[in-house]
Amino acid sequence: MAGEIGIGIVGAGGVARGAHVPGYLSMPDRCRIVAIADIEIERAEALAAEFDIPHAFDSYEQLLELDEIDAVSVCTHSDFHAPVTIAALESGRHVMTEKPMAVDLASARAMVEASHRAKRILAVDFQTRFIRQAQTMKRFVDAGELGEIYFARGRYVRRRGIPGRQAFHTRAQSGGGALMDIGVHILDTGLWLMGFPTAVSASGSIFRKLITQEELFNPMGDWDRSATDVDESAVGLIKFANGAAMTLECAWGMNVGETDFGITLAGDKGGGEVRFDEARHAAPGMHPVRVFKDTGEMLVDLIPSSDRAVGSYPPRDPPKPHTLSMQNFVNAIIEGAEPLVTGDQGLITSTIIDALYRSAETGQQVDIKL
Ligand SMILES: NC(=O)c1ccc[n+]([C@@H]2O[C@H](COP(=O)([O-])OP(=O)(O)OC[C@H]3O[C@@H](n4cnc5c(N)ncnc54)[C@H](O)[C@@H]3O)[C@@H](O)[C@H]2O)c1
Repeated sequence: MAGEIGIGIVGAGGVARGAHVPGYLSMPDRCRIVAIADIEIERAEALAAEFDIPHAFDSYEQLLELDEIDAVSVCTHSDFHAPVTIAALESGRHVMTEKPMAVDLASARAMVEASHRAKRILAVDFQTRFIRQAQTMKRFVDAGELGEIYFARGRYVRRRGIPGRQAFHTRAQSGGGALMDIGVHILDTGLWLMGFPTAVSASGSIFRKLITQEELFNPMGDWDRSATDVDESAVGLIKFANGAAMTLECAWGMNVGETDFGITLAGDKGGGEVRFDEARHAAPGMHPVRVFKDTGEMLVDLIPSSDRAVGSYPPRDPPKPHTLSMQNFVNAIIEGAEPLVTGDQGLITSTIIDALYRSAETGQQVDIKL
């Protein structure tokens, strides 16, 4: 049936316009966007007019009253992910929530409990998993090429890229800074590549060395220095019950020589590395995916061919990861399957992020009980 799943979108800002709307519009035979809501009604109306969306509201409660809505995308600032998600689930809708799941662990847990009670899908838009490089590496991992992965090194380090929007700068609205905003992506993808081993402890440090400086080069915009209380960078060590470990480095801004967005994996049969930042893998000698093998005689690096005759890797115009994420969500609803990124997995990531913040605060390693 054409457009069988009716979608409602809550929050009509950047991620709704750039990711969710195009994602749903990419599959007109499977879903249609029925309504959009934003507390700033002009935003909802502008998006509705631009994309021919039948209804625009200034509250999510009104949106949830529409019978035609089967699923809701939550694109508000992070402090509203939990209340909107829980209300949508309790009204019988499936939910795709933006990351981070919530501004605190208790809210993330309440979201997952609501999805279990309602028997509805809760998916999280951790779209890094859908980037071609991550998908390729996952196939090597699942085929056993790396063996048992005992170490992962995740990095999402921007030299400069402190968000210029105030909502990202207050813990009350965002739940945290770089760790909460971008650290979550690399943690989620790292855990997924490792097969979600059970985390048992976390040790972290957060930094606020640049974010309050008045004179700072930052092409991503400006913010009120006196009204920011979040971390601009963080590092962490996560230990797992099977003896494996993962380190995490993330930064909105750091005085280092390179932006670095990728994951390195070490396994007992091989290793691997994915790089997500295009500038880096476009550089000579850099490759977006590498698998490392020991033949007994030598070490061999496998790289996907980007010979023009057989096609470049990754392809020149790959589908957008966000679009794949929305498609995966809608397909999961229609097919009664699990989405690639489940709320339960999102809760694990939230639990580890929470432990890293608590460790940074206390200076101690924090035990994790999942
Ligand atoms: N997955 C990703 O890579 C990714 C990328 C960008 C943003 N995000 C996440 O998406 C969320 C939104 O980010 P953004 O960049 O679109 O912000 P934004 O400021 O551009 O848009 C947020 C919108 O939500 C609206 N809003 C706030 N509270 C609301 C409520 N209670 N009901 C209805 N609307 C409400 C605001 O008026 C605003 O229009 C954040 O949680 C952010 O972390 C995720």
